[in-house]
Amino acid sequence: MKLTAEEQAMLDGKHGRATQKAMQILTALGMIYEADCMLPVTSVQIAGVSYDNLGDAGLQFLSEMAEGGGKACVLTTLNPAGMDIENWAALGIDPEFAANQRRVIEAFARMGIITTCTCTPYLTGNLPHYGEHIAWAESSAVCYANSVLGARSNREGGPSALAAALTGRTAGYGMHLDEARQPTVTFNVMDRGQGTHWFGALGKAIGERLQALGSRPVAFIRGVPVASLEQLKSFSASLATYGGAAIFHMEGISPEAGLHRPPQETISVQMADLEAAQGSLSDSSASQADFVSLGCPHLSIQEIARIAELLEGRQVTKEFWITTARPTKQIADQMGYTVAIEASGAKFAVDTCCVVAPIKGRFQALVTDSAKACYYAASKNRFQTVFLPFDEVVYAALGEQAALRNEDLQ
Ligand code: F3S
Repeated sequence: MKLTAEEQAMLDGKHGRATQKAMQILTALGMIYEADCMLPVTSVQIAGVSYDNLGDAGLQFLSEMAEGGGKACVLTTLNPAGMDIENWAALGIDPEFAANQRRVIEAFARMGIITTCTCTPYLTGNLPHYGEHIAWAESSAVCYANSVLGARSNREGGPSALAAALTGRTAGYGMHLDEARQPTVTFNVMDRGQGTHWFGALGKAIGERLQALGSRPVAFIRGVPVASLEQLKSFSASLATYGGAAIFHMEGISPEAGLHRPPQETISVQMADLEAAQGSLSDSSASQADFVSLGCPHLSIQEIARIAELLEGRQVTKEFWITTARPTKQIADQMGYTVAIEASGAKFAVDTCCVVAPIKGRFQALVTDSAKACYYAASKNRFQTVFLPFDEVVYAALGEQAALRNEDLQ
C-alpha cells in the first residue's frame, strides 16, 4: 500500500500519538482489504457514541485519543448518543449513565468533533456532494450517502471513522471504487405504495432477497416513480438492516442509476411480498403497546411539523418519543411545533433514539413506522413491535383506534 510522505509521517508518529494510532488503524484495514492507497475524505460521521454500547473500555479509548492530541481535520459529526444530552432526566435515564455519557461527548469535543448526535447528518449540515470520498459509520446514513447523494463511503466502525477524522484519510477499497458500486440484480417493484412505512417494508423485502443471494449483490430498483427524502431515508435504513446493503440504485431517482443498464438477473417484488414484510414486523397490537416512537432514522422538520399538526390540542396516553437531531429540534422550537408537541405529553428525545438509549426492560411493546427500529427493538431491547404508517403511529400514541377516524384516513 502506497503512502504519501505526509501519511508516512503520521504513521511514524510525527503528528502525535493519537494521529499515529489512527494511521495504524487505517493502514491495517487497507492491508486487510488490499487497498492500493489512502484517499482524502471531506466528511466523517462517527458511530459508537452511546455509552450503552461503548462501556468503560470504549470511553477509555476515546479519552486516550483525546489526551494523545487527536484533532479532527475534516468536518466530523456523531451518531446518536444514549440519551438526550440536555433533557436526559425527563426520559428516565439513570444519573450514573448520564455522567458517563457526558464524558464520552466531552472526549469527542476535545478532539474538535462537532457534537451533533444524529444518524441523519445530511439534514444538519454534514452533506457531502456527488463523488466525494467520505467515512461514515451509521449504516442507514452510509446507504443514503452512497445511493441518494452519490458520495462514496464504506460502512466504517467507530474506531476507523475516528481514525479518518484525525487523519483526513480512508483506505481506498470497497465503495470508494467503481467495481463495488455496479448493480448486479434488478428488482421490479409491482406495487405502488407510499409513506415511510411502505418504503421500510420495501427495504425489508428487497434486503432479505439480497441476503439470500450472498456475495455482496447491489440492487437496481425499477418501478418506484417518486420518493421523498423521508421515504428514501426509511428505505436506506431498512435495506441496510435487512440486506446489509451499503448502496442501491433506483431508476429515475438515485444519481448513479443512469450510469448503468439494469442487470439481466431480475426479481419481481409483488404486493404479497410487501404485505408479508409488513406483517412480519408486527407481533403485538397497538392497544397493548406501551411505548411509541417516531424518528428512526432521525426525523426531518417536515415530519415534526406533521406530528405537531396531528397532536395539536390532544393528549397522548402512552410514552411517546420523538427522536431527532438538536439543530432540527431548534427549528421546531422556532416554528412553535415543540410547544404543540410537548403540550400533548409527547417527549422530544433529542441526540438519541429508541434503540441506542438504555431502555431494555422498561417497556413491553413499541409502536413505530420504522422497519429498522422493529428489528433492533426486538433483537436488542426484547420489545414486541407494532409496525404502522406514520400518522397511525401518532394515533396509537393518542390511544385512538383506526376505525374511529375514517375521515382522517381519506
Ligand atoms: Fe438512527 Fe437510532 Fe434508527 S441511530 S437509524 S434512530 S436505530
